[in-house]
Amino acid sequence: MTPLSLQQYLAREETLRGLDPQLARVISGISEACKTISSLVRQGALAGVLGLAGSENVQGEEQKKLDIISNDIFVEALVQTGAVCGMVSEEVDHVISVPETEALGPYLVAFDPLDGSSNIDINVSIGSIFGILPADRPKRVAVEADFFKPGRNLKAAGYCMYGPQTQLVLTLGQGVVMFTLDPLTGTFRLTREAVRVEREAKEFAINMSNERFWEKPVQRYIGELLQGKDGVRGKNFNMRWIAAMVAEVHRILQRGGIFMYPRDSRTPDRPGKLRLLYEANPMAMIMENAGGAATNGHERILDITPEKIHERVAVFLGAAEEVERVTAYHLDK
Ligand code: AHG
Ligand code: MN
Ligand code: MN
Ligand code: MN
Repeated sequence: MTPLSLQQYLAREETLRGLDPQLARVISGISEACKTISSLVRQGALAGVLGLAGSENVQGEEQKKLDIISNDIFVEALVQTGAVCGMVSEEVDHVISVPETEALGPYLVAFDPLDGSSNIDINVSIGSIFGILPADRPKRVAVEADFFKPGRNLKAAGYCMYGPQTQLVLTLGQGVVMFTLDPLTGTFRLTREAVRVEREAKEFAINMSNERFWEKPVQRYIGELLQGKDGVRGKNFNMRWIAAMVAEVHRILQRGGIFMYPRDSRTPDRPGKLRLLYEANPMAMIMENAGGAATNGHERILDITPEKIHERVAVFLGAAEEVERVTAYHLDK
């Protein structure tokens, strides 16, 4: 039997679990944006989308052409749904509002239009990440403060990975499902349900080149993993680093492990590299819904109340046992 399409899946959720049709519209709009981005990624240099844009985003990162193109594709697709009243994007310093001529809806969307930008030009996996919040003031032009709600309020979150296959991973707060894009028909089809992350792990992901800038608890934790069988852990750990959070999370969802992006002493004024609203929160919701965990070393990521739309946060996520251990080291236990 042909697996359910994303549209059929959303319709089934509306019927069986009372999924709000407007939320389904937002997810559907995002899936359309991801298809368009996927097609540009596949064409690469042939579509003229590689290389630098010649500008910087609000976080001081050099923007790639594809960062900006993907941002514009997301904004247009979301505006067209008529179901959103404001957006936050990695690539835009302020809240993006819906043009006055378009309908306003009850949802707020935060997104990283293109994750893993350093992989774009080398044809390695990249993705898009999104989180969808209900607006306290539905159908009113959103302001920054509307986004200052802990991630536990998210109604849905997900990402799309542009890898050997294009896959959309989604949670509506009751488990995690995966869709694979059929490149022949342009349809996302349900290829995995009830995705689970094992409590135990034998693989970790961290940018080891930053080791000397980490805090003591992280140095201790990673040191123990590196000692493998000969140390306190009594087993060997493998390491992977793709430099795209989407790809690391995708691997962990399928074969376990822990992903970390800790604080760095070179940038004492910021708690980490990754952004809370559109990187850490959606991935934390996915991990928790797959039975994993996500903290900033001290508290659950989904319990943090944001104070800035581009707020950064340290991230430890994946296998519960490992996340609990590195968190305990931070709490000096
Ligand atoms: P983005 O490309 O959206 O700015 O995010 C990049 C992030 C994340 O995807 C990845 O885990 C990390 O940066 C890679 O950092 P390093 O370059 O330090 O390895
Ligand atoms: Mn970036
Ligand atoms: Mn990113
Ligand atoms: Mn990005």
